Amino acid sequence: MVVAILPAAGKGERLGGSLPKQFLDLKGIPLLVRTLLAFEKAPQIDGIIIATHPLYLEHTENLIKSFNLRKVLKIVEGGTTRQRSVYQAVKIAPLETEVFLVHDAVRPFVPESLIKRVIEATRSYGASVPAIPVRDTLNLVKDHLVKANVPRENLFHIQTPQGIKANLLKTCLDEAIARGLEFTDESSLLTYFGHPVYVVEGSWLNFKITFKEDLILAEKLIDCKIETLF
Ligand code: CTP
Ligand code: MG
Repeated sequence: MVVAILPAAGKGERLGGSLPKQFLDLKGIPLLVRTLLAFEKAPQIDGIIIATHPLYLEHTENLIKSFNLRKVLKIVEGGTTRQRSVYQAVKIAPLETEVFLVHDAVRPFVPESLIKRVIEATRSYGASVPAIPVRDTLNLVKDHLVKANVPRENLFHIQTPQGIKANLLKTCLDEAIARGLEFTDESSLLTYFGHPVYVVEGSWLNFKITFKEDLILAEKLIDCKIETLF
């Protein structure tokens, strides 16, 4: 059984506004629902668990009902960090879960081919993440001055969904929480504990909506029917 975990309990502080970004309307469909639909449509996904802020539990439940999303197994209260939100979901996942796919609720354009690639690599290697190579020149800058160049050959932007065998994610999260360690994603968590994470090809379209500009870009991509380009 493959279970997608969508941490959706953030506040969206970098984007601003009163409503957290995952609930914003994106051309008639809330951002969170657009992301959920990608997993709802993927035949490889058996169930979905959403972690949301306690204030938005009911709102999230209503969205699931009104968009008739059938794969959502449960909505749990998230925590104060992304890691804690993921942990809440892992704790209540069905015992039959073999693989978890943790996906940021604010990456709506995840192609199905990418979901498939991550699941296959996770089954073979235990854990897998999509990544894209860094495009720009990378420099170390201090006080408005370029101090040094950082070679970018081996530098990648890490995306989600991040696939991990269920027991491995549980064990690593238990250990991190017990030791008070905090990681921004599962690849960093697993790497800290010495587990290999296999990297597969990500997608430039699978960007995380973080700033206002990303929202504008997302609307334009929906206008030009981006899903037909996958
Ligand atoms: N997230 C979560 N619980 C938290 C913090 C973040 O479930 N306590 C989720 C977000 O809802 C998002 C994903 O983790 O789906 C990636 O986080 P990010 O893009 O940083 O979202 P926010 O934390 O909401 O944004 P910001 O950092 O700008 O406040
Ligand atoms: Mg954040």
